[in-house]
Amino acid sequence: MCGIVGYVGNKEVTPVLINGLKKLEYRGYDSAGIAVFGADSKEIVVRKAKGALKFLEEKITKEVIKESQGIHLGIGHTRWATHGEPSDLNAHPHTNESGSIVVVHNGIVENYAKLKSYLQAKGVVFRSQTDTEVIAHLINYFYESTKDIFKAVLETLHRLEGSYALGVLCKDYPDRLIAARKESPLIVGLGNGENLIASDVPAVLEYTRDVYFLNQKEVAVLYTDHVDLFTEDGDKVVREPYHVDWDLSSAEKGGYAHFMLKEIHEQPKALTDTLRPRLVHENGKATDIKFDEFDFGDEWKNAERVVITACGTAYHAGVVGKYAFEKFARIPVEVDVASEFRYRNPILKKNDIFIVISQSGETADTLAALRLAKAAGAKVIAITNCVGSTVSREADEVIYTWAGPEIAVASTKAYTTQLMCLYLLALKMGQIRGELKKDEYEKLLAQIEMIPQKAQEIMENQAEIQKFASQQFNKSKIFYIGRQFDSATSLESALKLKEVSYMHCEAFSAGELKHGPIALVDKDTLVIAIATEPELYEKLASNIVEVKSRGAVTMAITLDKQGAFKESCNTVITLPECEPALASMISVIPAQLFAYYCSVQRGNDPDKPRNLAKSVTVE
Ligand code: F6R
Repeated sequence: MCGIVGYVGNKEVTPVLINGLKKLEYRGYDSAGIAVFGADSKEIVVRKAKGALKFLEEKITKEVIKESQGIHLGIGHTRWATHGEPSDLNAHPHTNESGSIVVVHNGIVENYAKLKSYLQAKGVVFRSQTDTEVIAHLINYFYESTKDIFKAVLETLHRLEGSYALGVLCKDYPDRLIAARKESPLIVGLGNGENLIASDVPAVLEYTRDVYFLNQKEVAVLYTDHVDLFTEDGDKVVREPYHVDWDLSSAEKGGYAHFMLKEIHEQPKALTDTLRPRLVHENGKATDIKFDEFDFGDEWKNAERVVITACGTAYHAGVVGKYAFEKFARIPVEVDVASEFRYRNPILKKNDIFIVISQSGETADTLAALRLAKAAGAKVIAITNCVGSTVSREADEVIYTWAGPEIAVASTKAYTTQLMCLYLLALKMGQIRGELKKDEYEKLLAQIEMIPQKAQEIMENQAEIQKFASQQFNKSKIFYIGRQFDSATSLESALKLKEVSYMHCEAFSAGELKHGPIALVDKDTLVIAIATEPELYEKLASNIVEVKSRGAVTMAITLDKQGAFKESCNTVITLPECEPALASMISVIPAQLFAYYCSVQRGNDPDKPRNLAKSVTVE
């Protein structure tokens, strides 16, 4: 997704903008650009380039950008194409015809065609194919009549349909930067003698830890020494900034070759951070689960159904959640991908518990599902990793995954910590509904407490997976199979491999193999079975024999230590001993590592897979 940065202050602005854009590279982009006030503060210089940031940097020489001697002011953007191909021309910033009004934008202007025709009929000439350009012309249109940039921006915002995070500069106002947001995320960083805007916190952390997460339809005007917040109607807003307490180093690679590998390795800590504050101990023994964020009221006891909605990896966490709620709390669960849920006129009931899961808290479809559920009167619980995100602000209750910033596009530690939150909810629900007796509940709590340590043990044995990846990275077809919890883990394992290795990979419930997919199996096929449920080992082993006899190479990721898969599998990755019903939090880790190593073997960049964006803030 697009990334926005903006700066007003005393430092030379160009390096600040480039530095900020680098911190947002993880969001995915295909072109980049900046706009800064020139030496005499009378003109705004724009430079843009298709491709990586280095191409933009090549275009920014001291000769072309002579910065102002006073206030330094500028905006920058990394673009992820929606309207119009990736090109220098379509890259942001976009300007009005004279170049006096400059805009960067993240989101989609849904009514841009109508606005464009209106402006064209008035003689405005458009240069790019983007929806964003219409914003610059529209601001100019209102500026001509109001001669007040703030009013012109507000007038424009009132006419935009769709989503936007915006940074706006105007030649006549060399002292300020205007920002606004609806749907797409935008933060304001409050520095000392400098203020910034950005799409995400890592871009401002070098300068400040105090930020405003702009609310829906909020506008900010930034000067060097202060920031004013307004509603889109121009009413002043006053509120306390949020203090970010995580470290910049947690958003840097710290010695690992890639963020993805670092984040896989951070899972033991992330799981501990997510679990520990929620466990109640008595005499050193875990006896209960509590969430500081909310009480388990009667609605949890009396609920008739749990409905879970999310996208991608977060959806797969929801599928594991379904098995967990049904097993521990004996409550029916429906899981749906948010993009389907929102359009199928879903049936929601008063006694439903509605859970949305979103790492970023900004996914457009998940947000739409959340709003739909709220409008239908359901109580919405959000599981998210991003404090201040739109999901966290709009849900009735929020449960944070304390995974720390996830920079690699492919989600790893956010997924396992989402699972941790879902397991905790399912266990607690099981207890309050009388499905889990005290002994059983405490036994499971003791087991869940050991999960981070088990995750650590897998990291220590990763060489075996690395070796297997080095032998298999050229396979043309890969299938993950599993049953029950493991079929959910298979979905996520297959997605991870597809995303970063670009190998064709699918997941099937093992029992479905015979109903069609086995027709694909031949000697170019790799089949990976996930097997953590002892009572199903035998059935799974016979599925593996079926594919092996048709030429497939086979691997099992299993808790089994008795050799159930020795005969049928070429390689067996044995997981550390753990309660099978909780094993989903660790059985995915070898699959994450396998995906990572295949990606590296194939010469890909696992942190920035092609065509993917970290945060999908458009439909
Ligand atoms: C895959 C991945 C995506 C996200 C999906 C939802 O590795 O990261 O499938 O899970 O785009 O994103 P969030 O969780 O931010 O709503």
